[in-house]
Amino acid sequence: MTGKLRLGVNIDHVATIRNARGGDHPDPIRAAELAAAAGADGITAHLREDRRHIGDRDIERLMERIALPLNLEMAATDEMLSIALRHRPHAACIVPERREERTTEGGIDAAGQIDRLRPIVGALGEAGIRVSLFIEADRKQLDAAKALAAPVVELHTGTYCEAWHSGADAFERERRRIAEGASYGRALGLEIHAGHGLSFDTVKPVARLSEVAELNIGHFLIGEAIFIGLSDSVREMRRLMDEARAEAETSA
Ligand code: PXP
Repeated sequence: MTGKLRLGVNIDHVATIRNARGGDHPDPIRAAELAAAAGADGITAHLREDRRHIGDRDIERLMERIALPLNLEMAATDEMLSIALRHRPHAACIVPERREERTTEGGIDAAGQIDRLRPIVGALGEAGIRVSLFIEADRKQLDAAKALAAPVVELHTGTYCEAWHSGADAFERERRRIAEGASYGRALGLEIHAGHGLSFDTVKPVARLSEVAELNIGHFLIGEAIFIGLSDSVREMRRLMDEARAEAETSA
């Protein structure tokens, strides 16, 4: 039995559209409510240092109004740590952050920053927040997550998703890299999540991996919502994930 694969819906880009006009529409909290009704198991939001999409008030309202577990994506800074400790979301995913990047461009270098990350991972864990580290599917980074006693890692699937456009061999090479990372991490006792760039085209090979417990997906779902609506966008992603899991279980 591989178990149900959880879907965390990232609502950042509802806030991106709202902020383009500076008003309060579209409301990311309404998007979270719709995602919950359409089959999401959790809501993910990234409070960036520059507040380019999600803002402090959004995090407050998500905590007040949404019953699903909140996964707060955050940079490893004192400011974000104190915000996380104030709100105590279900989970916090530590991501690298550079002001000039368009989106999170890769995993955090946990292996190179063990000393800096240790107190942050420790403080979040002591507050009862489930900590995950967003890392590349790389043994060195997985070993570092284990050394930091982070219970969860989220494997960066951005390069894998880009490889979809580079032909079957490149895509399979990247898929295998994620699969090997997932199985190495699981053997270390880590809970494995994955995300970044996933779409209807790329979700199933990752969803088939029995070691993966959760996928966090945002940009594609919000973009697709323009054409088919958010509920159908989330529902179709959920369906593909469940279908992939069922296929993997019958072939196991
Ligand atoms: N997981 C993490 C750690 C991320 O930083 C992001 C993007 O904010 C996602 C998942 C979702 O990626 P996407 O929006 O490309 O689906």
